[in-house]
This record gives sequence, C-alpha cells and structure tokens, in this order.
Amino acid sequence: MHNVSMYELLPKLNCDLCPRLADFREENRKKFPEFYNAPVPSFGCRDAELLIVGLAPGLKGANFSGRPFTGDYAGDLLYATLLEFGFAKGDYAAQKSDGLELVNARITNAVKCVPPENKPTGTEIKTCRSFLKTEFETMPKLKVILSLGLISHNAVVVTSGYKQSAFKFVHGAMHDFDNGIKLIDSYHCSRYNTNTGRLTTQMFHDIFQQITDVL
Ligand code: URA
Repeated sequence: MHNVSMYELLPKLNCDLCPRLADFREENRKKFPEFYNAPVPSFGCRDAELLIVGLAPGLKGANFSGRPFTGDYAGDLLYATLLEFGFAKGDYAAQKSDGLELVNARITNAVKCVPPENKPTGTEIKTCRSFLKTEFETMPKLKVILSLGLISHNAVVVTSGYKQSAFKFVHGAMHDFDNGIKLIDSYHCSRYNTNTGRLTTQMFHDIFQQITDVL
C-alpha cells in the first residue's frame, strides 16, 4: 500500500476488469451521452468514521449523476436520513451540483459500475472487491461500516478477510471485526423494500440511531 498511490487502486474511467459491465457502459455512452457512464467514485471524506456500502449505481441515478445514490430512488431515503442524523449538511437535490456535504460519513458501492438490471454477477462483485479493500485501507478513522443489503454485507465480510459464513446478514445486527471495526446490517433502502414495507423510514432511522450511539 505504501509505495503505491491510492489513486492507482481506484477504477479507471474506462475500467475493463468486468467485460460485461464495460460493454454495458459503452452501450449507455451511446444511448445516454449526457450521463456520467463510468465507475462511480465514493462520496465523502476518507477521514470519516462511518462508511456506507451500497450495492451498485442505478442506471438513471448514480450512473447518471456520478455520485452514489444520487438521483436513485434509494437516495431519497438515504440522504434525507443522513441530513436528519447530522451525517450530511446542505440540501439534497438529486444532482452532484447540489452542494450537499457529508459529515463524518462516506458512501461507496460494492460494485462501482452500473450492472444491467441492477444485478451484478458473483464474478463482478469479486472483481470489484479490490476497490472496496482500498476504501477500508485508506480510511484511518473507520469505526462503523453500514451495509445496505445482503450483497453489500457479504462483500464487506469477505473483503475484511472473513469467510462469508462467519457473519450472518440480519437487519439491525451489529458484528464485531477483530480490527475493532463494527459492521451494521440494514435492508437496502431500495424502492422495492420501502414500497413493500420490508424497510420503513422508522426502521432506517433506528439503524442510524444505533450508528450514532456507537460513534
Ligand atoms: N444507487 C447506488 O449508488 N447504490 C445502490 O446500492 C443503489 C442505488
């Protein structure tokens, strides 16, 4: 890590490690030339204590705006909650230029490129792990990781050096890693989960209350 600039460990704009995602990006560049259409960088300072890990950019949300969850339906609840709990300041207007700032929090995705139908393959999740690892290694004050959904949970567990079976995904569970970092699980704040009532605003607020109590 020490001899290598961390920026070399971030995906390049034309990252071709996942051929299917690179092909999809090319298609989208033609179809939606005004979109960001590249691996979406993490948002927030590296000296934050909280890292929120989502799944992957949505086609017309984060892949459009170039900022995680920004413009995605899931971002409405996420950013409103971050503002409510003081992990963000300013106004969220679903675009990168809204000036919103994160406070002691950073947001990333387990997979940095938009996958077709919002579904990355196991190989793509595995391939993108090196970038998630960089996140963990370059956040010196990291205390809490919030995983949004099972795929994020599994990616965080394996990237942290554990077997997937070592920690079971349970909404509201807090898992202790040997390095002192705590992993908190939440159902993903997706449109499907909020519309079906699997995740209510109150349940999501309870997760952020738990995070606030830990920090
Ligand atoms: N947008 C993101 O950036 N990540 C998700 O997990 C969902 C929507």
